[in-house]
Amino acid sequence: MPTDHFAVNGRIVLAAQATVSVLDLGFLRGVGAFETLRTYGGGHPHALGEHLSRLWESAAAFGIAPFVPESEFRRLIAEIRRISGHDELRVNLVITPGENISGVFGAGDPTWVMIARDLHAPPESAYRDGVTAITFESRRHLPTLKTTNYLTGKVGLSLAEKAGAHEAFYVSPEGYVTEGVTSNVLVVQGKRVMTPTQDCLPGITKAGLRPLAEAQGLTWHECRLTRDGLYLADEVWITSAVREILPVVMIDGRPIGSGKPGPFAQTLRALYHQACIDQARREAAAVADG
Ligand SMILES: Cc1ncc(COP(=O)(O)O)c(C=O)c1O
Repeated sequence: MPTDHFAVNGRIVLAAQATVSVLDLGFLRGVGAFETLRTYGGGHPHALGEHLSRLWESAAAFGIAPFVPESEFRRLIAEIRRISGHDELRVNLVITPGENISGVFGAGDPTWVMIARDLHAPPESAYRDGVTAITFESRRHLPTLKTTNYLTGKVGLSLAEKAGAHEAFYVSPEGYVTEGVTSNVLVVQGKRVMTPTQDCLPGITKAGLRPLAEAQGLTWHECRLTRDGLYLADEVWITSAVREILPVVMIDGRPIGSGKPGPFAQTLRALYHQACIDQARREAAAVADG
């Protein structure tokens, strides 16, 4: 029976014993950065280097410089996987400024946590049948960073839940669809893939998808998207580390394209999944070779 273990400040403990102080500024003021990544091919973390670069970039917003080497994250993931007994993991890395010891934001040492649980990827039916989404007017604070402040996202996902939808897309005050609450958004029109780069997280999954899409004869365009652009698309996809590429077949109650996942989503998801397995194995071999 697998037992969850997490790491707090580098120490692996049983999940129930993984705690941080109530004085932590992550808890008190919502100051924090995080990453979500997954393993492939039997526990190899995918694109760990890219996720850590983005983690440190986000942590720099509250003054934290890199202080844990990649090798330590890699070691903890492998060790937690061995102890917990899960096959593939969904890994959350969280960094906060640490305990508030003076003034409003004065902190001592940063807190860092690794939550590594069973992968729990979406069921195959989600890829086969597609998922639904809604749009809502809001924006994420510091949208190019992955901070723990998801209050606006919580509002969007509550609306999605009420509508029985899987994802909620942010529509900026200027009227542009920027991203999902926990995903990037891409639109396919003919052989054009269009996706925003402004006011959204630079997604690692999306970046990995691009060369595969181009190899399939699709052209890639970084541009703003509107609600109508989504409604009239042939295909809409969301991307994220755990979900990879999921087709969205209905938005705000309107069917997208034929109302069924389009052909590109399915082909690219298969190619992307295999490419991740290959890349994770190559990275693991490179690490083993020193
Ligand atoms: C707001 C937001 N945008 C986009 C993404 C997708 O990013 P990635 O593909 O790097 O997982 C996420 C992932 O969690 C997210 O939270």
